[in-house]
Amino acid sequence: MDDDAPDEAFTDLRTRHLGGWGVVQIAAGTGLAVYAMWVGVLQPGFRRVPLKLQVPYIPASKAQVKNVMTLMRGRTGDLVDLGSGDGRIVLEAYQHGFSPAVGYELNPWLVRLARFHAWRAGCHGKVSYRQEDLWKVDLSKCKNVTVFLAPSVLSLLQKKLQVELPDDALVVAGRFPFPDWSPCRIEGQGVDRAWAYSMQAQRQHTSQKNGNLRPTVNDSDYKLVQE
Ligand SMILES: C[S@@+](CC[C@H](N)C(=O)[O-])C[C@H]1O[C@@H](n2cnc3c(N)ncnc32)[C@H](O)[C@@H]1O
Repeated sequence: MDDDAPDEAFTDLRTRHLGGWGVVQIAAGTGLAVYAMWVGVLQPGFRRVPLKLQVPYIPASKAQVKNVMTLMRGRTGDLVDLGSGDGRIVLEAYQHGFSPAVGYELNPWLVRLARFHAWRAGCHGKVSYRQEDLWKVDLSKCKNVTVFLAPSVLSLLQKKLQVELPDDALVVAGRFPFPDWSPCRIEGQGVDRAWAYSMQAQRQHTSQKNGNLRPTVNDSDYKLVQE
């Protein structure tokens, strides 16, 4: 038997140049792997969501979660995270006394991951992660709402929240502020920053501006995603 054979093979590999075809094969393989990852892991649940409303999964940083919770200090009762990702905000909210703490998330893998994190933290059955489209959730009884979504969807979400939430609701947005609302408090710096909005103050501000007209959301505004 030739003991040197593996060494020779490695030396051969190291010295052999890839060439144009090799580079094409590696690029194609990488592209395919990224596509498979997108379709199989990140995209499920979003097939019926219009492209302009699709928001990718980016988990909140630890500082961001802390800032969101600081702005929620003094609040009690329920909390809803719209687009809950791996569930970290919901879990933290429950650990800060919010109950029921509920996350709405379209991606089934993230819903599973969130449930796993809750189980690992000893909170199985205490928090709730629902695989639902946030645009279809009825928010009329929610007192505390958190969001970390792309700026491109925040103006539409603003309308939905303003139509549905009760006056005593508080909304906290992480990383990106709502484009037309005035925050009552801001916490943190840079990408970890969070903004708090009192619904009542927001409504007063809007009605003064629009002569007591309540905003309406047309069906066409978020005609989405019907199954
Ligand atoms: C930027 S991540 C934020 C995740 C989490 N809230 C956090 O702070 O770590 C946005 C999340 O919203 C989810 N999402 C986007 N559009 C959604 C929709 N229409 N319904 C439910 N979830 C949605 C995405 O899958 C993604 O996990």
